[in-house]
Amino acid sequence: MTDDFVPVIDLSARNTEAGRAAIAGAIGKACETSGFFSVVGHGVARDLVESMYTTTKGFFTLPETEKERSANRGTGVSGLRRPGGPYEAFAAHVTGDLSDEERGRLGDYPATWKVANIWPDDTFRTTWHRYMAAMTDLSADIMRLFASALDLDPNFFDDKFDRHVSLLLANYYYPRPAPDALRREAHTDWGSLTVLYVEDDLGGLQVAHGDDWLAVPPVPGSFVVNIGDLMAFWTGGRWASTVHRVVTPEQDSTRSRISIPFFYLPNHDASIEPMQPLAPAQPEAHLERVTVGQWFSHKMQTTYQASS
Ligand code: OGA
Ligand code: NI
Repeated sequence: MTDDFVPVIDLSARNTEAGRAAIAGAIGKACETSGFFSVVGHGVARDLVESMYTTTKGFFTLPETEKERSANRGTGVSGLRRPGGPYEAFAAHVTGDLSDEERGRLGDYPATWKVANIWPDDTFRTTWHRYMAAMTDLSADIMRLFASALDLDPNFFDDKFDRHVSLLLANYYYPRPAPDALRREAHTDWGSLTVLYVEDDLGGLQVAHGDDWLAVPPVPGSFVVNIGDLMAFWTGGRWASTVHRVVTPEQDSTRSRISIPFFYLPNHDASIEPMQPLAPAQPEAHLERVTVGQWFSHKMQTTYQASS
């Protein structure tokens, strides 16, 4: 059951015509059901992933006084944040190293992608930049497969992402959380797609399925890909932006854990509207035209206003 719900899809034949059609078919099916799949044969260099995880873990395990120098200064998500709960996080936007002036032009909303990045040191910054570039390439490839799966021109999405505002986020989950504490509460992702490297077979990521939670089977060396809200809008609700959460696996509760999702977010001013009349609206489906900036500022307000 879970195997079909979150299928493992081999991308290695994506550059041949026959391979591409089969892959797009499998991806389309997954996006209509769970909104989650794992990819192998993705072509992302293992060395890069390893240095990314090593460098990032190194940061989280620094002495407190050193970490503190990279603390978030109150706006946006950049740098080190402790949102409360069983984890802390470090984040950077791909736009966060543009000049103040260029960032100021990324929309009229107080969006997190308009805020400058904070970097602990040069090695860390270089490694994150390289990883962002690799995740951008992989995500763009997957968007082209999405386009094929939807019977669109493979390049349909290209001009919606040529100034993308994507976010790279490292979650550092503390060891020994309170019993029953979720590492991450149930939520949907807000962007178009999310890619998350799977380091080992410990698992913990779960996807809502009716009243149940189904585990995403961990495939070491793969990336878990899931659809976010914007992709659900784009497809008129035919594809699912599925609720997911992270639990602490029993055997893992004494260890800390790191996860580094990349949220592929379109241009701030890309207008998202259903591309064709598709499925009847789901309760959450949003079928009116919305720009990426509007959607994120709406989500920021509704998510964080109530709790502050
Ligand atoms: C997220 C998320 C999963 C994980 O940050 O949106 O779902 O395993 N993370 O940390
Ligand atoms: Ni998520």
